[in-house]
Amino acid sequence: MRIGILTSGGDCPGINATIRGVCKTAIRHYGMEVIGIHSGFQGLMTKDVETFTEDSLSGLLTLGGTVLGTSREKPFKRGGLMDGVDKPSLIIQNIKELGLDCVVCIGGNGTQKTAAKFAAMGVNIVSVPKTIDNDIWGTDFSFGFDTAVSIATDAIDRLHSTASSHKRVMVIEVMGHKAGWIALYSGMAGGGDVILIPEIPYNIHNIGEVILDRLRKGRPYSIVVVAEGIPTDGRKRAGEYIAQEIEYETGIETRETVLGYIQRGGSPTPFDRNLSTRMGGHATELIATGQFGRMVTLQGNDISSLPLEEVAGKLKLVTEDNDLVVQGRQMGVCFG
Ligand code: F6P
Repeated sequence: MRIGILTSGGDCPGINATIRGVCKTAIRHYGMEVIGIHSGFQGLMTKDVETFTEDSLSGLLTLGGTVLGTSREKPFKRGGLMDGVDKPSLIIQNIKELGLDCVVCIGGNGTQKTAAKFAAMGVNIVSVPKTIDNDIWGTDFSFGFDTAVSIATDAIDRLHSTASSHKRVMVIEVMGHKAGWIALYSGMAGGGDVILIPEIPYNIHNIGEVILDRLRKGRPYSIVVVAEGIPTDGRKRAGEYIAQEIEYETGIETRETVLGYIQRGGSPTPFDRNLSTRMGGHATELIATGQFGRMVTLQGNDISSLPLEEVAGKLKLVTEDNDLVVQGRQMGVCFG
């Protein structure tokens, strides 16, 4: 068997460990040939590929980013047509010409949608969920999330000492797109006093009151963790907007930090390395047993898979009954 592998969408820690998991299992255990496709679906349009050997996989476990490169190319966008080229047909033709029996797609929500469309057109596809946002439906965790949470938690820990020295409110904006998973997990792990996520509406007067109440009780500083996707006045970033509003409400000096792409860079945590390795290995097992059109999942502690058509197009968001939200509220954390 000859398989292709590509990485699509924003990068995140653990992609290379997943590539290694897929390819080493394919080459060593199943005797497959593996072709690396560069720059996501773009590479399938131009046949920009390389042959992977065991040597080319050396050192990938700990390496951040993706050695294959990535792009946000969405071949089905605008009906799939660009400059008279039918992109999906071109890709299917190239998959045939490259002699690929299956393509492994490592990507986020957009990639799952694209993979589901190719699967519906009869292409043999297996996908692996990848995102720091942890918003892919059907899997409890995607690799990259644990690393992003640990980086954000470290940043929150560091903000505590400077916040308390200056008696300031420190607002930290973290990533997550439309979901609040990174803010919730890092906010709780970092002991945030206020955690704002897109899934839970907030009231700025209430937040101001919570911060003033802390001041009255002898705690003159506060840590506010804000997900980038919360609603604002539309003109400012979430962190900047909330910091300005808090200073206005409380009169306490307030500063904001936008953590940004640091959350996506560098080496994956041990949890993410092992999740990537397990998911990568399972993707290869699906191919070897002819189970195509599926996305690898983590449910509880079990690695399994779901049909792509079931997961594509759905977002996994935080709900009010999430145990960290419930527990946080019981301990006095303000969610808005
Ligand atoms: O999906 C991962 C993510 O880092 C989001 O948290 C963020 O909103 C987005 O990607 C940033 O995308 P880009 O790389 O296109 O700037």
